[in-house]
Amino acid sequence: MSKFKGKKTDNGPKLAKKTLREIALNGIQSPSVLEFFCGAGESFNAVWRKAKNYTGVDLKAFDDERNTICGDVVDIAKTIDVDKYNIFDLDAYGSPYTVLDILSKRIKNYDKIAFVITDGICIDLRMGNVCSGVQSLTGLKNRRLRRANVLHYEIIKKIIITVAQRLNGVASGFKIATGVTGAKVKYYVFFIERKK
Ligand SMILES: C[S@@+](CC[C@H](N)C(=O)[O-])C[C@H]1O[C@@H](n2cnc3c(N)ncnc32)[C@H](O)[C@@H]1O
Repeated sequence: MSKFKGKKTDNGPKLAKKTLREIALNGIQSPSVLEFFCGAGESFNAVWRKAKNYTGVDLKAFDDERNTICGDVVDIAKTIDVDKYNIFDLDAYGSPYTVLDILSKRIKNYDKIAFVITDGICIDLRMGNVCSGVQSLTGLKNRRLRRANVLHYEIIKKIIITVAQRLNGVASGFKIATGVTGAKVKYYVFFIERKK
């Protein structure tokens, strides 16, 4: 895994989000995208429309050109055929880690996949709250951990290591950007390649 290159985004998250998604798209052959929390299609319109295959998941129903599933991301992550996809976009307002926890246990058939993550847990961590997805992916046992935000980068590193281990793969291509607002949203991408 490359070293963290945390960059502050001064022109808003849009450019960082687009750039990270382009990195994922360009790093995967025959890209097939599963976007959780897909919303009205900002990422689809900016990047994912270039993918060979795309499915978006959202609580809201969208009647547009995209292939979308209306439902709760956790339910869909548990049931959808994840092996049909090789790019997983988790663009949550809060924690993407319950979904990542499920995916990392369910994906079986892959050579190389990319995860694009929006991590909005910094405020929770600052208040000492560690959500169940983070607990499961890091091994942290306590729901409460004072000033856990100090460990945010370490938590992300550990999460990537866990995902790679569960998938019997090797992580690479890690890039991260941090939003400039108090929420300190982290935007990042990484790849997992199956061990030869
Ligand atoms: C941050 S926006 C996503 C933006 C989108 N990725 C884009 O590029 O335009 C959050 C979206 O997540 C959806 N959402 C929030 N909680 C959800 C859940 N539990 N299951 C499915 N969708 C959810 C909301 O309906 C909202 O559309």
